[in-house]
Amino acid sequence: MRKILVTNALPYANGPIHMGHLLGYIQADIWVRAMRAMGHDVTYVCADDAHGTAIMLRAEANGISPEAQIANVQKEHIRDFDGFGVHFDHYDSTHSDTNRARASEIYIKNREAGNIAVRPVTQLFDPEKGMFLSDRFIKGICPKCKAEDQYGDSCEVCGTTYNATELLNPKSTLSGATPVEKSSDHYFFKLPNFGEYLQKWTRDEGRLPVSIANKLDEWFDNGLNDWDISRDAPYFGFEIPDAPNKYFYVWVDAPIGYMSSFENYIKTKRPDLSFDDFWKKDSENEVYHFIGKDIVYFHALFWPAMLEGANYRTPSGLFVNGFLTVNGQKMSKSRGTFIKAETYLEHLNPEYLRYYFASKLSDKVEDSDLNLDDFVQKVNSDLVGKVVNIASRCAKFINTKFDNKLSATCAEPQLVQSFIDAGDSIAKAYEDREFSAAIREIMALADKANQYIDEKKPWVLAKIEGEEQQVHDVCSVGINLFRQLAVYLAPVLPTLAQQVQDFLQLESFDFASRETILVGHEIALFQPLMQRVDPKAVAAMVDASKDSLAAPAEAPKVEKKKEKKAEKKPEPKVGEAEIIGIEDFMKVDLRVAEVLEAAMVEGSDKLLQLTLNVGEAEPRNVFSGIREFYQPEDLKGKLVVMVANLAPRKMRFGISNGMVLAAGNGDGVWVISPESGAIPGDKVS
Ligand code: 2FM
Ligand code: ZN
Repeated sequence: MRKILVTNALPYANGPIHMGHLLGYIQADIWVRAMRAMGHDVTYVCADDAHGTAIMLRAEANGISPEAQIANVQKEHIRDFDGFGVHFDHYDSTHSDTNRARASEIYIKNREAGNIAVRPVTQLFDPEKGMFLSDRFIKGICPKCKAEDQYGDSCEVCGTTYNATELLNPKSTLSGATPVEKSSDHYFFKLPNFGEYLQKWTRDEGRLPVSIANKLDEWFDNGLNDWDISRDAPYFGFEIPDAPNKYFYVWVDAPIGYMSSFENYIKTKRPDLSFDDFWKKDSENEVYHFIGKDIVYFHALFWPAMLEGANYRTPSGLFVNGFLTVNGQKMSKSRGTFIKAETYLEHLNPEYLRYYFASKLSDKVEDSDLNLDDFVQKVNSDLVGKVVNIASRCAKFINTKFDNKLSATCAEPQLVQSFIDAGDSIAKAYEDREFSAAIREIMALADKANQYIDEKKPWVLAKIEGEEQQVHDVCSVGINLFRQLAVYLAPVLPTLAQQVQDFLQLESFDFASRETILVGHEIALFQPLMQRVDPKAVAAMVDASKDSLAAPAEAPKVEKKKEKKAEKKPEPKVGEAEIIGIEDFMKVDLRVAEVLEAAMVEGSDKLLQLTLNVGEAEPRNVFSGIREFYQPEDLKGKLVVMVANLAPRKMRFGISNGMVLAAGNGDGVWVISPESGAIPGDKVS
């Protein structure tokens, strides 16, 4: 039996769980349930990520201690996960004594191994608040285009990135005070010590999706830098050993929370498991982290390096999921598609969403779309129309005419056996995290089962005298086929599976249990299993999500964007913009360009780096602020329109040589693309 430890990314303890989070949690929960159904010993843990400035300030704003803040949010998170059937064996917090001890130990081992450096860093400091300010807490005038009210890392108007110290007239967003430059000692983890090790590690079989390993190669090519792991007081976190008033940056003790949550779990609930059996260097047990693609950097570089530096084993694999869009776009509060877990549960059955996500997920690092119309249609047609329908068509005859007993022999052993045999490839699809393939196979079986019942028409036979045995046999086969489907769907639909297990009065519902055909078996009275999705309930959920605009708790990144949008000067309406003459317009050289390459920009969550063919000898390099709305793969090969005669702009990441045109309304950005037929270099007028 394989022993496997599975974790999900730890959610920050300052905001609610929403649909975007749930994609990764539901994915991991399905995998855990499927692996258990195959007989493996799987431990599944998580925790709240409780430290950092954002949480400290959120607590302050709420007028409570950080400890009270994280305790409140933890309760909400546990409630939400539970509501969606995401069933962790243990749910902890990174703010625990066990985590403090483990973080200190890992740090000290790395220090002893020569992996820690100390050197002074100059940063902006808020003299009123008495704290150093990260970029998001500083606003000022863009040094490049002079736009007001820009954050300390980059300008939303012209896209330039800079150091906070370069902002003109900077102000602390916390107190309004003018920050001053101040130096203090910082502790660094010497990531370059692990360059060779990581380059090999990321290419080990099964460790990472290949697309991610390729991406990491670009980072290796650019060279690794020391990682700043300390923050000065005041900070909500763990003090660094032998460094008074210096705290571990939240991303140091967050992944260590995987270890400490597991440790607390086995201490309290699984004394038969040992910490060392999982975490010592040569452990043969498996450890997998399910994470979103935005946090690969931390999990594929810092985390294995810290573990290696402290002589622990590293994860067997990282399972990386993409982002979630709703109705094809980024989740948006104004459209009511920023849907909190809590709001969903007030309106809809969680298993609908589990099914829908499963039908979309594969092992690829692709974004998934929750299209609400498709969601209604798919759940109603697959689950209610195909699967549950089989039971409701057959059960009533068994219940009313045959004293709840299935036939003494199976009338269609080959048909039932073909369903049993299909379980091997369905199990493999689950194991490979090819859930959409598993669902396709299961639904093909459901079609087959319905076809069988449609052909035999037990409801017609039931009216013909002397055909009782036929009715009994057909309905018993139908129930057997339904049982196979329910076993296969159990990892995705645990509540439905439990209802079916109760209805069929079966002791086990794991994958191996399906091998015995049910004959002469007594079942319980059939109860309706799943209602159709009511589109009105979906509309009500979207409406309620619009209402939750003023929700107090929010993840810091999102809040930053929200604030910015709220405070940004509105775009002029059509007809309000300054009038320019044709001669001014003619100065702008608009050209068709082809996107040859599109890539993420390390250290920027706004920019994509585009390599554009504009019909010139050399391709152009352009940084475009569309990262939030486009994945690189969406753009590659696309024709776009660019301003080809814009003066080159020096940015932190390189020189940007032109600008790509896009339309936007604050909620989304749409790159402008000519109809097919245009070729790179064509003039646009
Ligand atoms: O990005 C996030 O939401 C982090 N709180 C994830 C942490 S995962 C792990 F390292 F703790
Ligand atoms: Zn600017």
